[in-house]
Amino acid sequence: MKIQPLNEAVGVEIQDLDLSRDLSAVDTSTIQDAFLEYHLICFRSPPLSHFEFDRVARQFGDPQEQLLRKQRDDDVSTVSILNSTYKTPESKPDDMNFMRLTGWHTDDSYMMKPAKATMLQSLEIPNSGGQTGFSNSRKAYDDLPDDVKARCDGLQAVHSYDTKRAPATASSLSKVETNETPDVIHPLIRTNDDSGKKAIYVNMNRTDQIVGMERAESDELLDYLVERMTRPEYRYHHEWSVGDLLLWDNRCLVHSVNMDFPVGQTRLHQRILLKGPTPV
Ligand SMILES: [Fe+2]
Repeated sequence: MKIQPLNEAVGVEIQDLDLSRDLSAVDTSTIQDAFLEYHLICFRSPPLSHFEFDRVARQFGDPQEQLLRKQRDDDVSTVSILNSTYKTPESKPDDMNFMRLTGWHTDDSYMMKPAKATMLQSLEIPNSGGQTGFSNSRKAYDDLPDDVKARCDGLQAVHSYDTKRAPATASSLSKVETNETPDVIHPLIRTNDDSGKKAIYVNMNRTDQIVGMERAESDELLDYLVERMTRPEYRYHHEWSVGDLLLWDNRCLVHSVNMDFPVGQTRLHQRILLKGPTPV
């Protein structure tokens, strides 16, 4: 197994590892160390069946069932099928900034115990566009001015399934799903329970308001933190090849999709979320 950095900001690529076999204890521990240090791991692999994908995921954590029932695979309920294909010209907007997946987000932050990691494997990709961008909110926190760190210390924010601050409206929910997603409150600065390192924990699609702050002041601070945590020097943009399997840490990365790809070309992934703790 070989490990190579993807870029200076985020991530490593792991080569020469056969995901169809159970990992050795040494491999698992090496991958865990790389995960905590670089936050994103890219495995090059052929596309896996839903069963194989779930089996691989269980070597890294505890898969959870995701909220949206319509995306769940019929056979393996921990696997979600994410199809972002534009089926008609009308379904592709002119301005990509108003697409939900374009907003820089961390998966699952509207839950009391958000998934600590996401595993995403590409099954079909368009000829151009469709990259997934990642930005390192741990490095961004480290580089904040001391007075901003002091101001953020101890602050909490409300995360909602949807918020007016999001660039676009969220998918509609069934009654059962709505009942499962009351607003939750998380720290504005999150400490990684495995590494002890702090990161900005703001989600453009879900973070609604800082607790105890007027809307205008809260918006100003959230906008500032989003700008800081998504600066180009913290980013890596993944050009997908079919079968690429990414594993990333939702506690210290945000991600965003380049939704500008051709109409009619399939963009299809399978995803598993790994259970995480209540953020502190
Ligand atoms: Fe996501």
